[in-house]
Amino acid sequence: MATQKPEDKTFTASELARYNGDPSLPIYVAIKGDVFDVSSKREVYGVIGKGYNVFTGKDSSKALGKSSLKEEDCVADYKDLTKKEMETLEQWYAFFSKRYNIVGKVIPDNSCNKNKLMGTHADRIPLAKLAVL
Ligand code: HEM
Repeated sequence: MATQKPEDKTFTASELARYNGDPSLPIYVAIKGDVFDVSSKREVYGVIGKGYNVFTGKDSSKALGKSSLKEEDCVADYKDLTKKEMETLEQWYAFFSKRYNIVGKVIPDNSCNKNKLMGTHADRIPLAKLAVL
């Protein structure tokens, strides 16, 4: 079976929600469906309930486009952004792409998720083992 590349990994919204600053897990921020690993900036994103932590464990495209730190704006649906806001979102996407690795994609909660095969230990299984799953 082909090796699963890290960026082929998928997260439902509820799976992604775990990666929100929990000290035992990486920290993820999704933008336009791509999941970025921002763990290298744990001091910026990892303080639960503070500052940029609001963007973590979810797709925060709309908030980034609107330059908003409001919890209610931290949602994936960015279709109502203005042209200007859409540009801002693109700039954030480019910023994150330069700085952080993409570790997967967000999929709808009701999708069949192949990562489920790996249970809750997905992040601890070395990549070599993924090949045999
Ligand atoms: C008073 C307003 C603000 C100030 C003074 C401020 C300040 C800063 C500073 C100093 C950094 C660099 C942090 C670092 O790399 O160590 C930063 C990064 C950032 N800011 Fe703001 N910011 C403000 C408002 C906002 C707002 C409204 C947003 C909403 C989108 C935002 C989103 C971000 C993001 C996503 C980063 C990148 C963090 C990273 O990955 O390194 N900021 N900001």
